[in-house]
Amino acid sequence: MSTSGPTVVITGALSYTGKYATRLLLDRGYAVRTLTFHPSRENPFGDKVRVFPYDFDRPDRLAETLRGASALINTYWVRFPHGTSTFEAAVQNTRILVDAAKTAGVKRVVQVSIANPSAESPLGYYRGKAQVEQIVRESGLAYTILRPTVIFGLEDILINNIAWFVRRFPVFGVPGDGSYGIRAIYVEDMANLMVDALEGKANTVLDAVGPETFTFDQLVTLIARNVGRRVRLLHLPTPLAYLFTRVIGWFVGDVVLTWEEYQGLMANLLVTRGDSTGETLLSEWLAENSGQIGVRYASEVARHFARPS
Ligand SMILES: NC(=O)c1ccc[n+]([C@@H]2O[C@H](COP(=O)([O-])OP(=O)(O)OC[C@H]3O[C@@H](n4cnc5c(N)ncnc54)[C@H](OP(=O)(O)O)[C@@H]3O)[C@@H](O)[C@H]2O)c1
Repeated sequence: MSTSGPTVVITGALSYTGKYATRLLLDRGYAVRTLTFHPSRENPFGDKVRVFPYDFDRPDRLAETLRGASALINTYWVRFPHGTSTFEAAVQNTRILVDAAKTAGVKRVVQVSIANPSAESPLGYYRGKAQVEQIVRESGLAYTILRPTVIFGLEDILINNIAWFVRRFPVFGVPGDGSYGIRAIYVEDMANLMVDALEGKANTVLDAVGPETFTFDQLVTLIARNVGRRVRLLHLPTPLAYLFTRVIGWFVGDVVLTWEEYQGLMANLLVTRGDSTGETLLSEWLAENSGQIGVRYASEVARHFARPS
């Protein structure tokens, strides 16, 4: 397919959120390149998307990949530290990527961040994202920073794995009182925000959140109802709930939820108060996709750390 529109480099087009944004970019006539750690992963876009490796140790090559692009959409981040893949390394790599974009003459950055980032946060994810936002703000490039809470969709991990648990166990261990909230955004709504941001002129910071907020208890109950299961919520001291997820993690070969993720969830960091920027109702989406969610466990470790085949 020939494209006549401007060129956009998006990270992670072969992964989760970046894949949805890439579909939209192609629909809207952009020429697309992507950066990934898995260049040999199955490419659903064929020759419509040119695939390049994250050359963080070769900024000159990174700049060549970005040359001629009008914008960079950056989804790159790590969910939790694993080996050399740490929050600190991700901040440093993002700095290299943004510098390379500047060197290459890119005009605009769309940075996918997180809701409620804070440079003072004790949580590495939220502190690192605040540092990344600062790098983007101080880059001199035009920017849009998007701050999602949880991004739900068929390839999502959190909602899917809650469904996986309730499909298999009659009891669901909830850390604490379960009253803390989640206000997730649908992945296609998120992709829309990412691609619409390319047309933005001003520098903008926007929460990416859907119309519905649920307490954790309500969310687990809703998911269970949709997959046709009755589940008893068992409120546990947080360390015990965490221990439980560690044990399950050993069985499924994954990090189910980190201690820091427990802290972020229970501190209401997956909620914002402003207007919704996504339209899709999680409750409706769950009803429409009840046959698919939670059928298989979604493993973060398998997704990002399995050896390339
Ligand atoms: N998913 C959510 O619910 C959620 C919620 C809030 C914020 N966010 C933010 O939204 C963005 C996209 O999230 P996503 O879940 O859709 O991510 P993703 O597509 O799975 O990954 C995005 C990019 O980061 C790379 N990456 C992911 N984990 C990595 C690791 N451990 N080490 C090295 N590289 C890694 C991926 O590399 P490959 O290309 O090699 O796969 C990909 O290029 C991220 O910035 C995330 O912080 C996501």
